[in-house]
Amino acid sequence: MQLKLKLTAVAAFALVAGTVSAQDVQVVKIGHVAPMSGGQAHYGKDNENGARMAVEELNTQNITIGGKKIKFELQAEDDAADPKQGTAAAQKLCDSKVNGVVGHLNSGTTIPASKVYNDCGVPMVTGAATNPTLTKPGYKTTFRIIANDNALGAGLAYYAADALKLKRIAVIDDRTAYGQGVADVFKATAKQKGIQVVDEQFTTDKATDFMAILTAIKSKNPDGIFFGGMDPQGGPMLRQMEQLGMGNVKYFGGDGICTVKLAELAAGAKTLGNVVCAEGGSSIQKMPGGAAWKAKYDGKFPGQFQVYSPYTYDATMLLVDAMKRANSTDPKVYTPKIIESNYKGVTASIAFEPTGELKNPAITLYAYKDGKKVPLN
Ligand code: ALA
Repeated sequence: MQLKLKLTAVAAFALVAGTVSAQDVQVVKIGHVAPMSGGQAHYGKDNENGARMAVEELNTQNITIGGKKIKFELQAEDDAADPKQGTAAAQKLCDSKVNGVVGHLNSGTTIPASKVYNDCGVPMVTGAATNPTLTKPGYKTTFRIIANDNALGAGLAYYAADALKLKRIAVIDDRTAYGQGVADVFKATAKQKGIQVVDEQFTTDKATDFMAILTAIKSKNPDGIFFGGMDPQGGPMLRQMEQLGMGNVKYFGGDGICTVKLAELAAGAKTLGNVVCAEGGSSIQKMPGGAAWKAKYDGKFPGQFQVYSPYTYDATMLLVDAMKRANSTDPKVYTPKIIESNYKGVTASIAFEPTGELKNPAITLYAYKDGKKVPLN
C-alpha cells in the first residue's frame, strides 16, 4: 500500500514537472533542404550534417529568446536536386511553420524555392547555390553566404589565361541553372582574356556517357575544357577523357565538381590531375575556425565531408544569431536583423550587401594531387 502511494506521488510529480517544462520551452524549427536522394545525395548529406551539427551545439547552450528556453529542431527535407521537388519541399517547410531555412543546395532548386519562402515570409540562407540570379528579385528573405558564379567563373578564366596561358577552350554544361550560368560567365571572361572558345556542348545532370560530345570536342583540339555541372557527371567525364586520349587537356569547373568525391568518381583516371576547380570561400585551412571545426565534423560524420557543410553550419548559426538580436524567433520580427549581421562564423565574418549577397567573399582554386583535393591559393 505504502509503495503504491509512493509511486503515485512520483507519477504526479513527473506529470507536473512535464507540464511546467513544456510551457517553458519553445521549439524552434530550422528547415534544411538539399538532394538527399539520387546522384547528388552525398552533397546533400554533407550539407545536412553541417546544419545538424549546429542545431546540436545550439541545444547545449541553454539559449533563451523572448523569455523562453529554446529547443531547436531540424526539419530535414529532400529536393532530389529537382526544381519541382524543390518548390514542393519549400511549400512543405512553409506549411510546417519553420522559423528559418538553410538551403537549398542547387541553384536550380534554390531560385524557384526562394519565391515560395518570400511568399510565406520565412528567411532562407543558402551556403551552396551560386547562380547570381538568385538575389536579383530583391527578396528580403534571401541570403547567400558564399561567393557567386560571377566570381567563380571569372576566377577560373583568369587562371586559365594568366597562369596556364591556355589559348583554346571547349565548354560543356549540364543545362541546369547552375551549370549553364557558371559556364556562361567562364566563357565571357575567357573571351575577354583572348582565349578562343572552340566548341560548346551540352549534357544533363543525369547523363553518364559523354563519349560523343568529348569526341566532337577532341576534333577541335582544345587545351582545356570547362564543365558547368556536378561531380556525378564530372567524374565519369574525366575517365572518358582518359579513354579518348585527352590526357593533356586541362579541366575546369566551379564548386559543383570541387568535391572530395570527384576523386572517387574519376576512378583512378590520371586526368584528375588536370582539374582546376573553384569554391566560393576560403579553404578550410584558412577559415577562422576551420581546422578545429573540421576535426569535430569528421569525428561526428566520418568520411562524409564534401564541400559545403561549414557553410550550412554557419547559415544555421547565423539565423539564430539574428533571432537573439531581435529577441524573437518570429520570422517577421527577426528577418530584418539578418541583413544587419556581423557574425563571426567558422567560414568567415559574415555581413551582407543590401541584396543579401555576402560582403567581400573569398574564392579558392583547387587541384587534385595524388587523388587529394588541395588548395592553390
Ligand atoms: N553551386 C552549385 C549550384 O549553385 C551547387 O547549383
